[in-house]
Amino acid sequence: MAKNLVLGIDVGGSGIKGGLVDVKKGEMVSERFRLATPQPAVPAAMAETFAAVVKHFDYEGRVGCGFPAIIKNGVAKSAANIDKSWINTDAAKLFSKASKCKVNVVNDADAAGLASSYFGLGKGEKGVVLFLTIGSGIGSALFLNGQLVPNTELGHLYLQGQDDIAERFAADSARKRDNLSWLDWGARFNVYLNHVDRLFSPDLIILGGGASKHFEKYSPSLDISTEVKPSIMQNMAGIIGAAVCALNDNGEKGKDKKKKK
Ligand code: BGC
Repeated sequence: MAKNLVLGIDVGGSGIKGGLVDVKKGEMVSERFRLATPQPAVPAAMAETFAAVVKHFDYEGRVGCGFPAIIKNGVAKSAANIDKSWINTDAAKLFSKASKCKVNVVNDADAAGLASSYFGLGKGEKGVVLFLTIGSGIGSALFLNGQLVPNTELGHLYLQGQDDIAERFAADSARKRDNLSWLDWGARFNVYLNHVDRLFSPDLIILGGGASKHFEKYSPSLDISTEVKPSIMQNMAGIIGAAVCALNDNGEKGKDKKKKK
């Protein structure tokens, strides 16, 4: 397999999606392959599905994985839309063992945000850029002059008047659960966007994840002074960014490296 082709896998609460990525160009060069996330989304079952996605590509080499949790040194530190037994599970170790490939794991929104920052709308953007993924949850990747602050978890903020975290009110899963029109959901998402806008004063907000491709259906409900754009990579950013992270640990392993010296 060509040196610059890397398998990227985007693990989500409802699907595990993979694709071969040209990491120099930031382009997916294969068809996307998706398997449903097993329910309950427990480590052993998800590792089996992960390995099946790798097998589909008949791939050997390093694999990059975006995972929907706080990830420190490959270990999951939270579990919002997956089984709680993931907390403190070494996802990198488990997926590497199951797939017999060396797997590097980072937060899924960080992976997608990095793809946007390297190859998409975030490329060359100075200042504060906030990348949000809207799917089963809301993921966030915060950049200052292109530098990522990993694991920001801004979908877990509390909004005034809500007794649960923001993603339960404003993620795409909330639109489906509450049977909302795009415009009604957009009005909810607008409350969330204005909240994060007030907290971080970003220069640009980029929307990724499943809902980003329907932007024109809910954009009339958005009323915010900061520029908001849907990602040009749509929901491929998660796979592309994951592949890039197979070779690049984004500083999330920085502490370990220091300890080894
Ligand atoms: C998780 C994040 C993840 C986001 C998008 C949230 O529930 O806590 O880690 O990035 O969903 O998948």
